[in-house]
Amino acid sequence: MLEIQDLRVKFHNRDREAVAGVSLSIREGEVVGLVGESGSGKTVTAMSVAGLLPRKQCAYSGKILLDGAELLHAPREQLRKVQGREIGVVFQEPQSALDPLMKVGPQVEEVLRVHTSLGREERRRLALEALAAVELPEPEVVYGKYPHQLSGGMLQRAMIAAAIIAKPKLLLLDEPTTALDVTIQAQILELLRKLNRESGVSMLFISHNLNVVRKLCGRVAVMQRGLLVEEGEAQEVFRHPRHPYTQRLIAAIPTRTRKGAEP
Ligand SMILES: Nc1ncnc2c1ncn2[C@@H]1O[C@H](COP(=O)(O)OP(=O)(O)OP(=O)(O)O)[C@@H](O)[C@H]1O
Ligand SMILES: [Mg+2]
Repeated sequence: MLEIQDLRVKFHNRDREAVAGVSLSIREGEVVGLVGESGSGKTVTAMSVAGLLPRKQCAYSGKILLDGAELLHAPREQLRKVQGREIGVVFQEPQSALDPLMKVGPQVEEVLRVHTSLGREERRRLALEALAAVELPEPEVVYGKYPHQLSGGMLQRAMIAAAIIAKPKLLLLDEPTTALDVTIQAQILELLRKLNRESGVSMLFISHNLNVVRKLCGRVAVMQRGLLVEEGEAQEVFRHPRHPYTQRLIAAIPTRTRKGAEP
């Protein structure tokens, strides 16, 4: 479904490549974890897939194929058709992703307003459906609230609603739970699992938290300094990490949680 082939990205103002030849594929319905130290190129990889790379600021090469269509070098108009519709994106800070002056509902339906000819009532109906799908109580009430009137966990649910409203094939989740406290984190993970199970949407899940990745992802890829140093079935990688860097990452997980207990 998604195939990243030898992706390289080098920002003009940097000496080292941010992404130095990454190849990774995601099958339909698959949840793939992407882990690795800060600055290893995880976000730049996700931005490349989402068509959000600041193209003027960098040199890039390779291929990104979404169901066979090449996106890395695609013209902006083509990218705009893919953004939100075929690929949904959720980032770490819901507060900064939302416009504080605009009610939540219209922001959840944004993709539909931009990409479809659906009327206002129909968009609202789909937004309420999406807000219900992310298990926000009283979708009609949430629809009319401003971002500051919702908690961090509720906002992240609203962001996920916005990302799934057009029923994309792929969700890119860049540390979607890092800013949330542990209980809320667990609820959001449960929600993501449910969405994957029920709609079959594929996911690329970026996280620093290996424990979370282990619970959610079938496959995991480990990045270090712009390169994928290890990739495989999550259980296998966690049980028998081959690369020294992965071994260090796993050794750094507290023992209690390494055995599978809740954090
Ligand atoms: N717009 C940009 N201009 C210049 N350099 C950038 C830009 N965006 C990212 N970089 C650099 O690219 C490298 C990879 O960054 P990236 O954000 O992908 O790391 P990351 O793995 O997501 O890290 P973190 O875990 O901290 O989020 C870093 O060295 C970063 O400083
Ligand atoms: Mg990042």
